[in-house]
Amino acid sequence: MNNNFWQNIKKPFFCSAPMYGVSDEAFRRMLLKYGRPDIFFTEMVSADGLVYMAEKTGMDSKQAGVFLETLRFVPEERPIVAQVFGSRPENFYKSVLLLRQMGFGGIDINAGCPDKNIEKQGAGASLIKNPGLVKEIIAAAKEGAAGSGLSLKTRIGHDAKETEDWIGFLLEQGLDALIIHGRTRSQGFGGKADWLMIKKTVELRDKASFRTIIVGNGGLTDMKDAKNKLEESGVDGAMIGRALIGNPWFFSDQAKEREGAEKTKAILEHLAIFEENFKIKNFDDVKKHLAAYASGFLGAKELRMELMKAKSVEEARKVVAEFGSKS
Ligand SMILES: Cc1cc2nc3c(=O)[nH]c(=O)nc-3n(C[C@H](O)[C@H](O)[C@H](O)COP(=O)(O)O)c2cc1C
Repeated sequence: MNNNFWQNIKKPFFCSAPMYGVSDEAFRRMLLKYGRPDIFFTEMVSADGLVYMAEKTGMDSKQAGVFLETLRFVPEERPIVAQVFGSRPENFYKSVLLLRQMGFGGIDINAGCPDKNIEKQGAGASLIKNPGLVKEIIAAAKEGAAGSGLSLKTRIGHDAKETEDWIGFLLEQGLDALIIHGRTRSQGFGGKADWLMIKKTVELRDKASFRTIIVGNGGLTDMKDAKNKLEESGVDGAMIGRALIGNPWFFSDQAKEREGAEKTKAILEHLAIFEENFKIKNFDDVKKHLAAYASGFLGAKELRMELMKAKSVEEARKVVAEFGSKS
């Protein structure tokens, strides 16, 4: 097995989840400032799109990296993993090469996204129904990965829980890490994540003495909850998604609810990083973050409603300034 960051990571560890339209550079820099996870993940990018951009325009990987705002990161974010979705093994191979050149220490294969457009391409969660193709994708990505980490993020089944067969198969593929969201594809993001199934994957791994690192994901609300689930399930690490939105203090281990002043300060900081880094990204992409900060304090609802009306960074700043002058 390769000697990459997955092998050196101190256990137990915590990761921030890949979230399309959410876990961008501004979001990750806020986490860096207020309490970083041990491992960062980018939002998913298309393997076909990456290869097309690099080959069609003749862009070198560095230029492509600047162009692809999605894949921006600062060195302090390392270890950082780029997540890729797709269904063509050769494009996984090429994407892995490009992403390595951009400096990512790990690449993650998306085999869990329930979005219809992604599934229609034979990618995301639809891969759960196509282990033959998954085997080819992993082999191609591995060839490109050389010394970098290779992981795969998936669910406990497609229509039904088929953990034993599906995860059993994945454990045989020699991945550095497996990230398991404790819901089936059919469950989407609703219902409870099944941490007993996640525990079962650890048992499967240990029984067969595989070395693959197992990361559990789904429904973790705070550090206390994450630590309990880690202990109960025996996973090596935990991944947190939605609970981080509007809460960059999550990993700082200070569970207290923040004051309004702290949250409005965070809104302004988030806006500044967004403005500095994104020229192509839409203002709407940052709005969901602003709404999430504006909760849990006196006047938060009114602030949130006003922020939702804003159409630019400037307008959002004005809303915050007006709120500050009133409170
Ligand atoms: C808005 C949003 C976007 C997401 N995008 C991705 C993605 O790009 N890749 C991925 O593997 N999972 C994605 N997910 C799933 C999360 O990574 C995670 O598995 C899921 O939200 C469950 O964890 P949580 O309960 O801690 O949020 C996304 C989830 C949300 C809510």
